[in-house]
Amino acid sequence: MAYDLIVIGTGPGGYVCAIRAAQLGLKVAVVEKRATHGGTCLNVGCIPSKALLHVSELFEEAGHKFAGMGIEVGAPKLDLAKAMAFKDEGVAGNTKGVEFLLKKNKIDAFHGVGKILGSGKVEVTPEGGAPQTLETKSVVIATGSDVAKLKGLEIDEETIVSSTGALALSRVPGKLLVVGAGVIGLELGSVWRRLGAEVTVVEFLDRILPGMDTDVAKQFQRLLEKQGVAFKLGAKVTGAEKAGDGLKVTVEPAKGGEAETLDADVVLVAIGRVPYTAGLGLEEAGVALDERGRVKTDGHFKTSLDGVYAIGDVIAGPMLAHKAEDEGVAIAEILAGKSGHVNYDVIPSVVYTYPEVASVGKTEDELKAAKTEYKAGKFPFTANGRAKANGTTEGFVKVLADAKTDKVLGVHIVGPRAGDLIAEAAIAMEFGASSEDIARTCHAHPTLAEAVKEAALAVEGRAIHM
Ligand code: FAD
Ligand code: NAI
Repeated sequence: MAYDLIVIGTGPGGYVCAIRAAQLGLKVAVVEKRATHGGTCLNVGCIPSKALLHVSELFEEAGHKFAGMGIEVGAPKLDLAKAMAFKDEGVAGNTKGVEFLLKKNKIDAFHGVGKILGSGKVEVTPEGGAPQTLETKSVVIATGSDVAKLKGLEIDEETIVSSTGALALSRVPGKLLVVGAGVIGLELGSVWRRLGAEVTVVEFLDRILPGMDTDVAKQFQRLLEKQGVAFKLGAKVTGAEKAGDGLKVTVEPAKGGEAETLDADVVLVAIGRVPYTAGLGLEEAGVALDERGRVKTDGHFKTSLDGVYAIGDVIAGPMLAHKAEDEGVAIAEILAGKSGHVNYDVIPSVVYTYPEVASVGKTEDELKAAKTEYKAGKFPFTANGRAKANGTTEGFVKVLADAKTDKVLGVHIVGPRAGDLIAEAAIAMEFGASSEDIARTCHAHPTLAEAVKEAALAVEGRAIHM
């Protein structure tokens, strides 16, 4: 059977690529080694983590905020098994949705490990079954990423867990030690803190959320500390030993010095993710990797082997579901003879904690390093009517614009629903807007989005409510 396109991996990169290619008239098949589609994101990433964040936020509100708003419900009780079932339902709804979309678009789905035998040939080996070879004009590698391991900490997904185990704990740990103050550490650390764990985050660097605007990260750290999350910055975990039911974790200063031992019931290793290329037969087939083990591309998704392309977490760039999706659409369009394109300067990034952190474009740190002259407008949620009415006034919006042209270069938000608010900034930037364009756009009142408008006004020092 000959295809126009075979996509290996049905995460957000792969399944979106397959659907777009089918829409454009290509004959498409996907190969997925998991039993369900949707990849890391739908099965053990974005979706289950957001379900647990939602549950834990409501639990926190019911316990600590409802009474202040005049809602008397008594102390809430956690049924963790039910919370996990709620999460699993959300996952199943999403993975079944992808299965439906693949069928609707007449995409053949093969379950098994995909291996590239050379240009135009993909071998599929189902679990416990015989391999089968499929022929195709093009192949897209969309095999995603896997958890980065830490020497001295053997992940068993029960006491020493990756994000996957942290999304399925059967008990709320008394003490959770998180290694890494990145996105996973802070999102899942917040979940378990709100559900009752004592959480300590150990981070190698002297700041949290590397890559995010420093101003935002500092404010966010203060807010998390107020919520009871403890931080040990400039420190590294070098080992963990079982002691009774718990663990004794060795932590050393990053710059060297005396080690200390911390007790923990569960350790979450969240020090990043690595590209997943195992089993693909890339070396034999002649598909080159870069210095960090990612599939090397020419900047337009083409690998070193003719007819083989790659997208998503397995190539360079931020490991984000929407980046993978946009790359999936772009390569499908290129293969169908159109001019697919991804604007890497405008990829929003969101941390779905409470409050949320969201960012698009350049940070102040990056603008300073590049010696770009810029103006900054900042507006706090304490001065936003809706935030005041809701009692959710933590955080601020910051708009960065070119000092000469006023073009928006970056927007950074820490605050309620920052992840939704950032979409406005991304659209503005995609259209090459100036801060004045945002400032002169009529925003509905009372909305949190007015804080974005006010921050844009603040670029020229003319915010109204501050
Ligand atoms: P993946 O989603 O990893 O999918 C790759 C698929 O390929 C997998 O299903 C795998 O089984 C399959 N595969 C691998 N090798 C083979 C093979 N040889 N043959 C057949 N199949 C194969 N990103 C966000 O944007 N927002 C979030 O809120 C967010 N939350 C996250 C939370 C957690 C806990 C984690 C771990 C990640 C989160 N991410 C989030 C990141 C996001 O999940 C990834 O960026 C995204 O899934 C990458 O998509 P992908 O299609 O490149 O790869
Ligand atoms: P990350 O790269 O965001 O953070 C890892 C952190 O661990 C960094 O701060 C790093 O300095 C620190 N670190 C590394 N080695 C260490 C060590 N030995 N000791 C202590 N700290 C150490 O990685 P994370 O959180 O694992 O997430 C992986 C990927 O998944 C990210 O690239 C992210 O983009 C994606 N993701 C996205 C989400 C979102 O968009 N909301 C949610 C969750 C994950």
